[in-house]
Amino acid sequence: MNIPKLKIGKLVAKVPIIQGGMAVKVSTAPLAAAVANEGAIGLIAGSGLKVEELKEEIRRARSMSKGIIGVNIMVAISEFKELANAAISEGIDLIVAGAGFSRDLFTMGKESGIEVVPIVSSVKLAKISEKMGASAIVVEGKEAGGHLGTDKPMKSLVKNIVKAVKIPVIAAGGIINGEDIAEVLKMGADGVQMGSRFVASKECEVDDSFKEVYINATKEDSVLIDSPVGLPGRALRNPFFDRLTASEVDTGKSCDYLCLKKCSHSFCIMKSLIQAQEGDMEGGLVFAGERAHLIDKVLPVKEIISDLLSDAKKYLGGKTNE
Ligand SMILES: Cc1cc2nc3c(=O)[nH]c(=O)nc-3n(C[C@H](O)[C@H](O)[C@H](O)COP(=O)(O)O)c2cc1C
Repeated sequence: MNIPKLKIGKLVAKVPIIQGGMAVKVSTAPLAAAVANEGAIGLIAGSGLKVEELKEEIRRARSMSKGIIGVNIMVAISEFKELANAAISEGIDLIVAGAGFSRDLFTMGKESGIEVVPIVSSVKLAKISEKMGASAIVVEGKEAGGHLGTDKPMKSLVKNIVKAVKIPVIAAGGIINGEDIAEVLKMGADGVQMGSRFVASKECEVDDSFKEVYINATKEDSVLIDSPVGLPGRALRNPFFDRLTASEVDTGKSCDYLCLKKCSHSFCIMKSLIQAQEGDMEGGLVFAGERAHLIDKVLPVKEIISDLLSDAKKYLGGKTNE
């Protein structure tokens, strides 16, 4: 089996990898552009950005790459529609949306001709997405970093969903190396979305200490938090997590951001994610996938993708698309 191209509507990526959108300010222009320059798909995380900031970030990415660049926006964000419209007005290639389900996004996609890719974690939502006009779906399992819509393993979801829909299926959650990619392609997935592996890249704009926490993580460090979004979130254990579980974190009752449509105010997720992005490893929330402990080096994106492809090729026994 050869490594296939990934077709999403009218887009064709030579490399069937999407770099998952990661908020707040984890996947910004330099990372998305570097991934797109390798023939894969780079996503800028829109959640947590103001409309003007997102527009600027898209322009910055476009100035660095002619490849395929999309945005990821969480449906749970108050400004979801405004951010999606801003991305459309900047001529983004695709919009990936998780943490909720937006029917309006399909209408916006149809009117603008932009590919819409929902993140789903069930056969039911996969089928609804297909019916509503999704160009592809990301199927995310419980291994993924960030907010989770399921407690089911990615492979069991992919196995069932590839049989249930005809649109491209992109597997996400716990994919770290080429062997993982080969395995899901053999199961019938059309591509993969990876987050954690790209955090530990030279181009990722988080503080170096954030990347070090990934490199030093052990298997036991992967934990789940109750996010104020109303979903569990996968992170790495740190002093912030310990204080959160001991109910010692200030609640976010006095809200500076109003970032979510609905917030439990159990703590301020925006503040905690920004703190981590800026390098506060004691007080910030460090989202990471369940298998992030398998990453042992911060590498340039070019090297990450070439290693992934040569490894995947080995396990598939075929050729890459040159
Ligand atoms: C630091 C971090 C932040 C994330 N933020 C978002 C986000 O804003 N929106 C989203 O849909 N997914 C988010 N995710 C999930 C990723 O896009 C991707 O689907 C996931 O990381 C895949 O699992 P992996 O980390 O095991 O590769 C985030 C993941 C990480 C690690």
